[in-house]
Amino acid sequence: MTARLLEGKVFAAQLKEQAKADALQLKAKTGVTPGLAVIIVGDNPASQVYVANKHKACEELGIYSEVIRMSEHTSKSQLLAQIEQLNLRKDIHGILLQLPLPDALKADEAEFLYAISPDKDVDGFHPVNVGRLSIGQEYLVPCTPYGCIRMLELAGIPLEGSRAVIVGRSNIVGKPMAQLLLARNATVTICHSRTKNLSEVTKEADILIVAIGKAKFLTADMVKPGAVVIDVGINRLPDRKLVGDVDFETVKEVAGAITPVPGGVGLLTIAVLLQNAVTAARALQKR
Ligand code: GUN
Repeated sequence: MTARLLEGKVFAAQLKEQAKADALQLKAKTGVTPGLAVIIVGDNPASQVYVANKHKACEELGIYSEVIRMSEHTSKSQLLAQIEQLNLRKDIHGILLQLPLPDALKADEAEFLYAISPDKDVDGFHPVNVGRLSIGQEYLVPCTPYGCIRMLELAGIPLEGSRAVIVGRSNIVGKPMAQLLLARNATVTICHSRTKNLSEVTKEADILIVAIGKAKFLTADMVKPGAVVIDVGINRLPDRKLVGDVDFETVKEVAGAITPVPGGVGLLTIAVLLQNAVTAARALQKR
């Protein structure tokens, strides 16, 4: 292996320390304990694990956490009423609606996400926060792309003037990732399923971020020697093994630095979520 291994646990620990210090400082100054509510509808097994991890991390950091479990038969109006109730609560500063929703509610997903007050939108999915990011005001930023940026910064990887290529144009990762890199003066290209001659574009990247949800999609011949490769994918193979969107075994021989899966940027997502909860609490108590 020639690439530097960018291990998530090292950077996640640093981000959590910061969030913990900020939460303590807020409590000392104002008496406010940041409060995060996570709504989970139905019993998706992966979501149950994510939600349990978030709850545990909140406890470690001194953040109040409440998990609201709703049945898979919950109606649209019941879910909207639950969100509204949390919008009004003074002790809750962050609200996260765990995705995916059960099939019967999927069509209204955007309506639910936009019902969350932008002041409590710790996922950064509300159009107000998307708009803020697009004009360079980083406030509540989507957790996964912000985790990637913080990892690059903490690892000392220069972004200014770099050529960054993102594979994947989702609202949750690809698009906010582009805004974050642009704000740090990278030259950014977003590729997607209709991009022609994809490997010609990816080979120009100094920083290559892959978020498309296809196991081992990015292979060594698509990477410039020495590039920094960030793998946002998590895919389960038929043998139950977890792998990213990057073919780690071959790409690690070409790249200058690479994140593993599991154990890579995924670990930073929760740390950013908790930091967002503290940020929201700080702003709300000033009102
Ligand atoms: N499900 C998987 N990842 C996420 C996330 O980042 N936010 C929400 N709300 N649900 C998710």
